[in-house]
Amino acid sequence: MNKIDWDSLRKAAMESQANAYAPYSHFRVGAALLADGRIFQGCNVENAAYPVGICAERAALAQAVSSGCRHLEALVLVTDSPATPCGMCRQALVEFNQELPILMVCDKLEAQATLGQLLPDPFVVE
Ligand code: THU
Repeated sequence: MNKIDWDSLRKAAMESQANAYAPYSHFRVGAALLADGRIFQGCNVENAAYPVGICAERAALAQAVSSGCRHLEALVLVTDSPATPCGMCRQALVEFNQELPILMVCDKLEAQATLGQLLPDPFVVE
């Protein structure tokens, strides 16, 4: 397997975080997904009708899948206070790689986990 360029992914996720549209929660999230050797960015996009908002991870996932990618290689998440992907995003991502490596970045604090660790026994249809 190719070595993952975490530095480029971290940079892309930080760039996306700057574009986050979060006027309601003020919780800005940036994501960068590696798929087929390409980087797909996403940020959270909130809405006045709260449930309409989308998380950064699913925004990035939609970009990757819309570009034809079907296998995810890595994810970086950038937040201003420590966070892990929400349950809905874990389920959305598990469809495309149950063992996706994930780096969670909050300033100098970094934590790594696989999606399998964050979402054991997922619902998938083989
Ligand atoms: N959010 C994400 O973008 N990703 C997550 O995994 C957790 C939550 C967003 C949704 C909402 O815009 C804000 O963070 C506060 O929940």
